[in-house]
Amino acid sequence: MTNSMGFPRQGNKQNSPFFEDYLGRLLDERDHIGLTDMIHEIDAIMITVDPGHSIEYIAELALMTPYHYLTSLESDTHWTHILRVDMNSPDLLVREVKDPNIRGIFRCLNEVYPIGAHKPNSRYMGEILRVTDLKAVVELQQEREFRFFGRDGNRRLEMPENIAVSKPSPYTHNICCYMQRPLDQLRVYALGTSTIRDDVQNAYAAAKHKQEALRIADLILPIDHLATRVYSQNREVAILQWLSLSSYYYWGSYDIKDQNSSTNVTKNVHYAQEARSPAKVFTANNTPYFVNHLEKLPSPTETFVRNYGPRLHHLAVAVRDGETDGVENIEHVVAQIKSQGRGFLLDVIGSKDEGLKQIFSSASEHSSLIIEYVQRFGDFDGFFAKDNVAQLTHAAGVEEELNQLQATSSLGAAKA
Ligand SMILES: [Fe+2]
Repeated sequence: MTNSMGFPRQGNKQNSPFFEDYLGRLLDERDHIGLTDMIHEIDAIMITVDPGHSIEYIAELALMTPYHYLTSLESDTHWTHILRVDMNSPDLLVREVKDPNIRGIFRCLNEVYPIGAHKPNSRYMGEILRVTDLKAVVELQQEREFRFFGRDGNRRLEMPENIAVSKPSPYTHNICCYMQRPLDQLRVYALGTSTIRDDVQNAYAAAKHKQEALRIADLILPIDHLATRVYSQNREVAILQWLSLSSYYYWGSYDIKDQNSSTNVTKNVHYAQEARSPAKVFTANNTPYFVNHLEKLPSPTETFVRNYGPRLHHLAVAVRDGETDGVENIEHVVAQIKSQGRGFLLDVIGSKDEGLKQIFSSASEHSSLIIEYVQRFGDFDGFFAKDNVAQLTHAAGVEEELNQLQATSSLGAAKA
């Protein structure tokens, strides 16, 4: 039996007695009832975009990440495009809504937030976790009071029929899905009709060709971590809820005092390699927005959440350790992608001495997601140097302010 509490604790942030008590109790129970050993890696992640955006988004991902286009599933009101690196890292499902007037639960999650409402169908939806016994996992989770959409719900949502889909988390707004698959079988999504679309294939092939020509294709590795931002008061419950739904353990939290924020990391108990099952990171303000005027503290994380809603902020992909043309690979990758007109929020930060270098791209106009590149040196296995996180958080906050200004001015223009 796996011992989910048996991993060393990292970090410097103090948690509440509530968190520490329930962390141990929840994970011990998860281990004892067999859930930890029935739930495995993140097998896929799901992103939804507005009508007309999926082809360009797939081209963007083909250039900036190692993903390949596989096929498209057509259902009544959606296209679901399947992207894959290989069977040792998660698939990426890009789902496009066909009709801009369609309304649904995922759109509702965007519409109550001022910037989120501008791209009502664009958001990260959640993960599909591979399980060895779908029925048993769902029954155990239902006994623990988690709720699922059920077969009819999946049909209405046009989600694959062979996965169990949880109701969105009140803390992260993400869904958590389960799919049963023996390791020696390919991933199959039971949804609609499968076709390889010429227009998608052509956009993908052109971007992949460009990635080869830029000599970056072999340097960009699978997803390293997925970073979700939540309201400050939801930090501990968001982590505990995710741990209850998954087979992840609590790695630790770092206080980023400069930015009035913390970064909280969870990792899969079964796979030490992030490429196999990305780390899940949660970021939250240390104090809620309504005390900022008293404390005069910066608040980039909570400002993001208030504008977009709790949601995934960035997905990080790893860059192979080493050098190209006399510069570290991350510098080479970023320079080559910049040469294609793609923006970044700051320069590459960190150093070999600190163990890693990192950078944030600008947010995608299709998904609103930022891509982080991270190169680790030697055997460094951490997620950040503290100075890096403060700088990254600050840079993302500056972009956020610009977006807010744009959103406000376009609202003004619409009224005029
Ligand atoms: Fe990150």
